[in-house]
Amino acid sequence: MSLPTLEDVPDLSLKVLGIESSCDETAAAVVADGVVVLSSVVSSQVDLHARYGGVVPEIASRAHLDLITPVVAQAMVEAGTDGDDVGAVAATIGPGLMGSLLVGLSAAKAMALVWDVPFVGVNHLEAHLYAPLIENPHLQLPVVILLVSGGHTEIIHMVDHGQYRVLGSTVDDAAGEAFDKVARYLGLGYPGGPAIDRVSLDGDPEAVPLPRPMMNDGLDFSFSGLKTAVVNYVRKHPDVSTPDMAASFQEAAIDVLVAKTLAAALEVEATGVCLAGGVAANSLLRARMVSACERDGLRCHVPSMAMCTDNAAMVAAVGWHRLRSDGATPLDVGAQPGLRLPPM
Ligand code: KG4
Ligand code: ZN
Repeated sequence: MSLPTLEDVPDLSLKVLGIESSCDETAAAVVADGVVVLSSVVSSQVDLHARYGGVVPEIASRAHLDLITPVVAQAMVEAGTDGDDVGAVAATIGPGLMGSLLVGLSAAKAMALVWDVPFVGVNHLEAHLYAPLIENPHLQLPVVILLVSGGHTEIIHMVDHGQYRVLGSTVDDAAGEAFDKVARYLGLGYPGGPAIDRVSLDGDPEAVPLPRPMMNDGLDFSFSGLKTAVVNYVRKHPDVSTPDMAASFQEAAIDVLVAKTLAAALEVEATGVCLAGGVAANSLLRARMVSACERDGLRCHVPSMAMCTDNAAMVAAVGWHRLRSDGATPLDVGAQPGLRLPPM
């Protein structure tokens, strides 16, 4: 999928510098008029956390401190700007890790003050929802978006810009959390999602019978029981092949995600479905969602891999929209680790 070019968007009046530091990616991007990505730099700390099997908050915030200046500088250089023509600075204010959020937020406020431009605080979940819109600026709303990340699993009806209805969500673990926990249990390391995706290619997805939790029970999800079913099966069958186990888990998780998203889209009579969040990088989810949408006559928007995982282009895009709808965010806004999507 190709990104929109400068010619697609004639009004280049506002460049937004976006900053993302909610978890273990330090990212900065310059985006013009909400859709033209002039630069997008992501520095992942994955290697720093891998030996601990998960993100260590103190290590994450210290790494953000080291990385924030070079990452922002690189994003500015790649966008060909020295700040003179940056019209606003947007940063993620939550949800996320408190110490990590504070680094990006403080840097963004400082730059907004120095350049005397508006600061915009951005909800990380809303940012993920805008990733498909950056790559499809003419995407017709409303759509149903499956937002699946390490901390969130939600089916969202995006009625219009800034207007969201949560149709379903997880009652326990997030989808990415389940991938990470199962991967750790199977000894596949961290981050677990990509590892399960990879080894499943060599496994038989029907080798192990696993439940499809809450499949016929509304639009909410439950992944904790599925993880327990994997643990119980391995305890009883210690010789099960890891690729077979991983592929069977992945098949069960994706079955439920796709079925419920399609059911939601049909329920609200949406014309399109989008994927968003880190788990949207999963190859089986991407393929299954495309074919299910084809079957049901729905348009399917699958963001590029780089747009699924955390990045700052999506933060800048939301910053642009929020600036137009709500104006600047007061500089005394704090980091909000438990932030949720704004109600309609
Ligand atoms: O959106 P994201 O980058 O960060 C959060 O906001 O959480 O999502 C990270 C999550 C992790 O749980 C990771 O294991 C999962 O996305 N993930 C995947 C894949 N790539 C990343 N899960 C399944 N398959 C993948 N290919
Ligand atoms: Zn995220």
